[in-house]
Amino acid sequence: MSAALPRAKALGVGVIGTGVIAGVYMQNMPLFEGIELRACADIRPEAAAAQAAKYNTEARSVDALLASPDIDLVLNLTVPNAHYAISHEAVSAGKHVFSEKPLCAGLADGRKLVAEAEHRGVRLGCAPDTFLGGGGRLARRMIDEGKIGHVLAGSAFLMSRGMEHWHPDPEFFFKPGGGPILDLGPYYIGALVNLLGPITKVHALTSIGLPERVVTTAGPRTGDRIKVETPTTVMALLQFAAGAQISLAMSWDVHRHSHPGIELYGSDGSMRVPDPNFFGGTVEFTEGAGDWQGADSSGMVFGKPNWRSPNWPATRADQANYRCLGIAELARSISHGTPHRSSGKLALHVLEAMYAILQSGESGSPVDVGSPIDRPAEMPEAEAFLLMKQG
Ligand SMILES: NC(=O)c1ccc[n+]([C@@H]2O[C@H](COP(=O)([O-])OP(=O)(O)OC[C@H]3O[C@@H](n4cnc5c(N)ncnc54)[C@H](O)[C@@H]3O)[C@@H](O)[C@H]2O)c1
Repeated sequence: MSAALPRAKALGVGVIGTGVIAGVYMQNMPLFEGIELRACADIRPEAAAAQAAKYNTEARSVDALLASPDIDLVLNLTVPNAHYAISHEAVSAGKHVFSEKPLCAGLADGRKLVAEAEHRGVRLGCAPDTFLGGGGRLARRMIDEGKIGHVLAGSAFLMSRGMEHWHPDPEFFFKPGGGPILDLGPYYIGALVNLLGPITKVHALTSIGLPERVVTTAGPRTGDRIKVETPTTVMALLQFAAGAQISLAMSWDVHRHSHPGIELYGSDGSMRVPDPNFFGGTVEFTEGAGDWQGADSSGMVFGKPNWRSPNWPATRADQANYRCLGIAELARSISHGTPHRSSGKLALHVLEAMYAILQSGESGSPVDVGSPIDRPAEMPEAEAFLLMKQG
């Protein structure tokens, strides 16, 4: 008999919202220690039944899942406008919650959610957890080790032509709670806060490029017209407490561009951070004004490319996609009594920054970002390794 220590009991996970993104979560869950898929649910029972059959789990009604004693953590993969109600119900039922981003649509609701989780003594986690992948951790280590010195300035760009040509039901992207800032801002702003610390002030211009979008994705919604009700181009300046000033451009009104995702300018050199939509990638950096050099994260834990989207052209390379990593990290944090890193508090700070950007776009004035937060602790490679199911 081995004298190994007994493992902590795995958290039973129930997925609510079995749409596009649920597939990769349900597929990845068996790769991770400490979490176990027990059931799924959707407001459309047929969607839950289909995913349950595919991933060998049980479909339940939303109410039954929320009341199930074998579910310790609710994974909320519904659309942003449903995030608050589902997460709040789950927290109130004494469940831990991990939510897709954004934390919810509405700042007051975000604050209530974080407060309620604290009051109930349950953990609230939120995507993105991409910064815990190999690429995000490598960039963080290099920043903390002073590879480019003190970060003074930088830029972040996410620009494309929108979502209506690939998503089967893209309505929510163009309504309040969506838009490039709330939909994709969490990756970029989350990565920046993990690297640089909290934001104190923003100043922004926003606009709706096209008043209407026509769905071209093949399926039941082809040809549907969507009225755009939230800005689709956002140009913002972010002031970080540590001193850096970052210009951020997020738009779904751009056919083509050639800007890198995140570039940082430090006192001793520059850095290009890997795409924060994914978990791997190469950190590019310079020593002073020298040539760009590359540090590849594909040999790191959760850095190896393992996934490609069915919508990508054959020329586009595979990417590292380890969705569920933040849930496994949350589960381990519970058993070790430590703070989890992809936390509701971090997501709330990012939500505050995003709403401040939208508010500044409306008012034309700078807006302060209230509650400062601590950066999540750096995750060493050895700890990341333990989140991966062994054997
Ligand atoms: N699609 C992506 O590539 C992607 C990537 C990263 C993150 N996300 C995030 O994941 C979330 C879901 O996105 P998606 O693309 O999977 O959307 P989706 O529309 O494909 O799926 C959402 C699912 O939630 C269900 N739902 C809606 N309201 C519900 C409710 N009140 N109770 C139960 N079920 C409900 C819908 O029926 C649907 O099946 C969003 O927050 C999005 O920002 C999506």
